[in-house]
Amino acid sequence: MPDYTHVIDGLRGRRIVLGVSGGIAAYKSAELTRALGHMGVDVHVVLTEAGARFVTPLTFQALSGNRAWSGFLDEKMEDGMPHIRLGRGMDAILVAPASADFIARLAAGLASDLLSTLCLARDCPLFVAPAMNRQMWENPATQRNVATLQSDGVTILGPAVGEQACGETGPGRMLEPEVLCEELNAFFTPKLLAGRKVVLTAGPTFEAVDPVRGITNASSGKMGYALAAACARAGSEVVLVSGPVALPVPVGVRRIEVTSALQMRDGVFAAVMGVDVFIAVAAVADYRPAEPAVHKIKKSGAAIHLELVPNPDILAEVAALPEAPFCVGFAAESRDLDTFAEEKRRAKRLPMLVGNLIGDGLGGDENTVVIYDEEGRHPLPRAPKTFIARQIVERIARLLPTK
Ligand code: CTP
Repeated sequence: MPDYTHVIDGLRGRRIVLGVSGGIAAYKSAELTRALGHMGVDVHVVLTEAGARFVTPLTFQALSGNRAWSGFLDEKMEDGMPHIRLGRGMDAILVAPASADFIARLAAGLASDLLSTLCLARDCPLFVAPAMNRQMWENPATQRNVATLQSDGVTILGPAVGEQACGETGPGRMLEPEVLCEELNAFFTPKLLAGRKVVLTAGPTFEAVDPVRGITNASSGKMGYALAAACARAGSEVVLVSGPVALPVPVGVRRIEVTSALQMRDGVFAAVMGVDVFIAVAAVADYRPAEPAVHKIKKSGAAIHLELVPNPDILAEVAALPEAPFCVGFAAESRDLDTFAEEKRRAKRLPMLVGNLIGDGLGGDENTVVIYDEEGRHPLPRAPKTFIARQIVERIARLLPTK
């Protein structure tokens, strides 16, 4: 695993207590512990007695690398004050899953076990991810308790609506571990783009040849999606105009799904007026078949010729608008990155362009990029696309004219 410690990230180096109360969703907390660990979080798990009946402390201990605590006075406790000691120096407490019973105890301010005592004696933010049967969630008593927690400054994450362990469908599912990580990450990320509106393009385009075939490219959309997520985390309103990719919509992002370059242009122009930033990450096909066949083309054994016509350059059109937003382009080159990237930036009159060499990033989770702007070239160390996205956002925020 490469060393990413040089990159600032919302969660890296944070110390978080993960509280696990009784509920079938506790098995997902094992995955959550792992996911937080991957994001550089020092996770300390505290289980209620009921939570420990679903998943053992040993599992969490193995996954977090820290002792997992349960009940009230754990036998292994040396100094007798774990409810005070554990909570000190923590950046947050996340209770996931939070059962109806645990939420009721929190709302009443009870200190009947180690986890509720820790929550009561805390000096850090508290996040609660409810998980319960839909009728338990909808019950006025639970709703009252949740409202009490909210007015006490507690952040409630979820619940999601969907199929439940009991076979019913409705609200009450715990948010997925990656969504909970994302919510925490967003909380700790400086709101560099607060009050700003951002439109992005991402992914490849698909230019139809006939009803089943087309011209496309190997773009995975990962860089664009990472950047959309980073903009949302930094506090901006985000619209992502996306070509066909197999990626989930990032938290806090509105996605417009398109297929061809022409549809992408329509999607962008429907969203881009009056926004602050436009980031063109998509690998837009430069050409499309002049006349896509209405019916499937049959093979005849003879050579066929495809006439291609140029697609509009979406980025250049947006950059040429009378009140153009701050425009950021991307360029993937196979050689002479500095020369071609800077040429593209000037040709399209962009304040900023992100360049990379094909092979360094296409399709993968990591990339090595150079940012070009009026102040020169700024090479970034090789890192995951999520971290690169964060650094691009920081650069945009620095160069963006104040409102
Ligand atoms: N772009 C766009 N619309 C297009 C083509 C490109 O918005 N029809 C955007 C891309 O999203 C990217 C930048 O323009 O931000 C890339 O510039 P471009 O000069 O088109 O790059 P390439 O297509 O790689 O150019 P070339 O093939 O000439 O190297």
